[in-house]
Amino acid sequence: MLILAMKYLIYCKDLFNGGKMKMFPILSILLLVFSCKVNIGTNESEQFKVVPITGNIDFSALKSYVLSPSCIRCHSWASDEASVQQRMISGDAENSILYQKIKSGTMPPSGALPSRQLQLVERYIMTTKRAPTIALNSTFQSIQFHLIGKSCLSCHNNAGKEMSFEGYANVKRRASEIIDILDIGDMEGTPMPPIDANGNRKAPVPTAQTVEAFRSWMSEGMLNN
Ligand code: HEC
Ligand code: HEC
Repeated sequence: MLILAMKYLIYCKDLFNGGKMKMFPILSILLLVFSCKVNIGTNESEQFKVVPITGNIDFSALKSYVLSPSCIRCHSWASDEASVQQRMISGDAENSILYQKIKSGTMPPSGALPSRQLQLVERYIMTTKRAPTIALNSTFQSIQFHLIGKSCLSCHNNAGKEMSFEGYANVKRRASEIIDILDIGDMEGTPMPPIDANGNRKAPVPTAQTVEAFRSWMSEGMLNN
C-alpha cells in the first residue's frame, strides 16, 4: 500500500516536471487536476483553485489564481500588468512590496493566502523579465515610469487616501499640483516624497532631469503618448 502511494506520488511529480506533459498536454492537465488534487494543497482553503507551479508564470495565471479572487475588489491596479509590476522588482521577491504584503499576512486584510498562492506570486516575480528600460523623454509613458511610478505611486494610488496619480487622466488632472510641489529649483529640499521619522525619504527623490521632462510634457500639451 505504502509503495503504491509512493509510486503515485512520483507519478504526480513527473507530471509536474513536464515529463509526460509534453506528449499529452491536455490529458496531463486533466489528470493533474483530477488525480493529483488530493496530494497538493490538502490543508489549504477550499475556495482556491489548484495552483500549477511549473515553468514560467504569466500574468494571466497570476491574475486568475491570486489577483482576481483576492485583490482586485480593493485594488483596481491589480488588474493591470504594468501597475502590478510597478510593485515588484523582477527577480527579487523578498524586496518586492507585492510579495512582502502577502508573505507578512497583511494582504489580503481578511487573512493570509494559502502557501501555494504565495509561491505562485514568488515564482511570477522571480521569472518575469525586467521591464525594458524606458528612455527619459517628455512622453507620458516616460514620465510615468521615471517620475510618478518611482517616486509618488507608492502613496498616491487609487487604494490610498492621498490624491491618486494613477493612470493618465489623474496625472493630467493633477499636473499643475505635481509640478508646483516639485519645481522648486532644489530637489534636495522638495516636500515630496515625505521624510520619515529617521529623516529618510519614503520614496526616491525625483531627479531634476525627470522634473524637467515632466515640465516639457506639460508644455507639449500633456499628450497620452
Ligand atoms: C479588503 C480590501 C483589500 C484587499 C482584498 C486587498 N487589499 Fe491591499 N490594501 C488595502 C488597503 C486599504 C491598503 C492601503 C493601506 C496601505 O497603504 O498599507 C492596501 C495596500 C496594499 C499595498 C501597498 C500599497 C500599494 O498600492 O502598493 C499592496 C502592495 C497591497 N495592498 C497588495 C495587495 C494584494 C497583493 C492583495 C491580494 C492578495 C490585496 N492587497 C488585497 C486593501 C485591500
Ligand atoms: C510616502 C508617501 C508619499 C509619497 C511617496 C509621495 N507623497 Fe505626496 N503626499 C503624501 C501625503 C501623506 C500627503 C498629504 C499630507 C501633506 O500634504 O503633507 C501628500 C500630499 C501631496 C500633495 C498635495 C500637497 C498640498 O499641499 O495639498 C501633492 C501635490 C503631492 N503630495 C505630490 C507628490 C508627488 C509629485 C510625489 C512624487 C514625486 C509624492 N507626492 C510622493 C504622501 C506621499
